[in-house]
Amino acid sequence: PVPTLQLREGALWLEERPLADIAARFGTPTYVYSRAALESAFTAWQEALAGRRALVCYAVKANSNLGILSVFARLGAGFDIVSAGELARVQAAGGRADRIVFSGVGKTAAEMRIALEAGIRCFNVESAAELERLNAVAGELGSTAPIALRVNPDVDPKTHPYISTGLKGNKFGVAFADAFALYQRAAALPNLRVAGIACHIGSQLLDPAPMAEAAQKLLDLVDRLGAAGIALEHIDLGGGLGIRYRDEMPPTVADYLAPLLAVFAGREEELCFEPGRSLVGNAGLLLTRIEYLKPGETKNFAIVDAAMNDLARPALYDAWHEVVAVTPHDGDEQVYEIVGPICESGDFLAHDRSLKVNAGDLLAILSAGAYGMTMSSNYNTRPRAAEVLIDGSEMHEIRRRETVAELFAAERTLA
Ligand code: LLP
Repeated sequence: PVPTLQLREGALWLEERPLADIAARFGTPTYVYSRAALESAFTAWQEALAGRRALVCYAVKANSNLGILSVFARLGAGFDIVSAGELARVQAAGGRADRIVFSGVGKTAAEMRIALEAGIRCFNVESAAELERLNAVAGELGSTAPIALRVNPDVDPKTHPYISTGLKGNKFGVAFADAFALYQRAAALPNLRVAGIACHIGSQLLDPAPMAEAAQKLLDLVDRLGAAGIALEHIDLGGGLGIRYRDEMPPTVADYLAPLLAVFAGREEELCFEPGRSLVGNAGLLLTRIEYLKPGETKNFAIVDAAMNDLARPALYDAWHEVVAVTPHDGDEQVYEIVGPICESGDFLAHDRSLKVNAGDLLAILSAGAYGMTMSSNYNTRPRAAEVLIDGSEMHEIRRRETVAELFAAERTLA
């Protein structure tokens, strides 16, 4: 699943660099990304949208490292943010504020102020109360807030329930039936400018049909609004395109977009997208070392130096990530539970994997570029992993490993 990973001279390489070099220089666990893979994923979106007025806003939550953001900023990406923290990251990485859309159900007044002062492109508003608050905050600053309403098209994205967001009965967006009246309200508020409409139905989508269904619903609403004198400049279709972790067959970007582009054929509105996973997921892996092999009565364990605090997806969603030996060698294949050192039974990275390995060997946990590092924690007072970006044969340490002292630097003891 990682396009620029190859087996060469009996070892795994990412681009022009053996993974073993990264472990030797930076230690483990370390997230490793391929610049070429990031760029080709982004270019696939640009090429599929060529000839269409469109903006690809990378969903920062998938991987918010400044090095990664800077790669996308250079390619002309926009950014989808969900906090003032992510806004600060985009600015620090050289991203343009006028290409930022701000999503999320819980924007604080302080975050609204910061985003208004930065001059972001659009607020994706998710409730009536947020609309009123944004109008008030913009009024205090003497500015006008560009808005889109995130509507909930009530389609079933057929993905994991934790990451499906476009059905009735979840917290995201405004109900489709309420959207028209809310647009009228927004148009009447003095400090808002109605700019667009947005939706996002879920993540790891493998079938383009639900998205095309949502697009058609959105377009009908856009036309009804237009007839009522509320003209929209852009239509934001969110993120969600899935990737291959195991044997999934996600559509290519072009195949995913084709039915959507058909819905909007001949339309003037700019199209926006908010892909996260499909831009970074298969551009990264987590490099880890086997500390111990522990044979058991019913299971054999490979205890590695990465854990659920580094990669939460297996524990949280029972997600499947491919695990491969970095320096495959001869020997007996054994079935292992790949587990970390954390004191929880849920601390596993993979179940039932056949590997020929010894203690001390390196493993690569693949497809870990999205929602890996960004969902990591310091549980068990474990410093978070280093992050290295490979560019040809160059190794850029885009985040150094945390130190233990940093982990409690903000704390104090009592007298
Ligand atoms: N736009 C909005 C409003 C979103 O909520 C999300 C993701 C995206 C865009 C990007 O979606 P993507 O293209 O990455 O599917 N932690 C979970 C995924 C959570 C997705 C949350 N929202 C995981 O590890 O699978």
